[in-house]
Amino acid sequence: MTTSSIQVQVPFHRADLGEDEVKAVSEVIRSGWLTMGAKTFEFEREFAAYIGSKHAIAVSSCTAALHLALEAVGLARGDEVLVPTTTFTATAEVVTYFGAKPVFVDIDPATLNIDPRDAERKVTSRTKVIIPVHLAGVPCEMTEIAELAAQHHLHVIEDAAHALPSSYEGRRIGTLSELTAFSFYATKTLTTAEGGMITTDNEQHAKRLQMMRLHGISRDAWKRYSAEGSWFYEVQEPGYKYNFTDLQAALGLVQLAKCDRMTVAREQIAARYSSAFRSFGCFEVPTVSSDRTSSWHLYILRLHLDQLRIDRNRFIRELAERGLGTSVHFIPLHLQPAYQREYGYKSGDLPVAEREYNRSLSLPIYSGMRDEEIEHVIWAVCDVATKWSR
Ligand SMILES: Cc1ncc(COP(=O)(O)O)c(C=O)c1O
Repeated sequence: MTTSSIQVQVPFHRADLGEDEVKAVSEVIRSGWLTMGAKTFEFEREFAAYIGSKHAIAVSSCTAALHLALEAVGLARGDEVLVPTTTFTATAEVVTYFGAKPVFVDIDPATLNIDPRDAERKVTSRTKVIIPVHLAGVPCEMTEIAELAAQHHLHVIEDAAHALPSSYEGRRIGTLSELTAFSFYATKTLTTAEGGMITTDNEQHAKRLQMMRLHGISRDAWKRYSAEGSWFYEVQEPGYKYNFTDLQAALGLVQLAKCDRMTVAREQIAARYSSAFRSFGCFEVPTVSSDRTSSWHLYILRLHLDQLRIDRNRFIRELAERGLGTSVHFIPLHLQPAYQREYGYKSGDLPVAEREYNRSLSLPIYSGMRDEEIEHVIWAVCDVATKWSR
């Protein structure tokens, strides 16, 4: 280790924001209209055009998007929903809002995504929905999932929190299934600080989502305080307060215009990492099969623990000592106390996910990374590997 190298600190994430975002947000502030309005609808139109979906409905988070999507397909108490165990709790918690049960499915070690064969084993007469999660931006086996869904009459709601922009067999994620949920959370590939989007080609779903995101009030509810609006409204259903804001949309429009450039930057970082790490026997670098593309939201490095004298946690501590912020995606949900308590899951239930979790770590990868930061990550990872390899 050299002292000069250690002085560089690389955070796990830093949003790629500049003067264009500052200007766009300032314009909205000066306009006097902050919440959902014309900017939000412009962002929805641009997003739908970018993805290639008929509709895009902006909401306050991806969690809200998943909740509203499940509401749109009529999830009810006692229903079951297939969810990969390797995901963020948001994917499963929304299922519990309905008194329905998240049924955890093991993962395919090649992609770290939901294993369609294990999903099939877990289908029962109560299964209503499957939520594939494109972990790190790598698309799931969507053909197999669509076949499974057709065979068992399941709705497919994609959790694309990591998958902007990713594609499967030449089609953008967001155009493949009945409903797809995206996240614009602070660390995501497009950020509006907080926020989410649902894409769908289904007219009826789009109308329902537009109404339910704003208290279940008829479509023009957002206008009721504007000059052209009316004070009169009707509550069609008790809905939710999940709307987007024009402040967020201003950020989103600028970020969307930069989305391709930011993706290329992440692709290049991933390629540099992989070419540096591939020669070490202790690493398994992430790969994407040729029929799909990844957003490279995350770079998940896997360790061959039999080639190392330290475990994953110690590896992370060693990187922290070298100034690197890292993370782990994800602690399998069936190991979390809340899901164990409620549904009786225990350690050992989903062995592939547990094994991969114990040897995974996520490295910094974001479009604003400076060259010296990328070089520092490569140096730190190789230094730890050299020191602790068997
Ligand atoms: C896979 C996955 N799904 C859903 C979410 C929830 O996104 P949001 O924070 O926008 O609600 C996240 C957030 O990190 C996520 O990683």
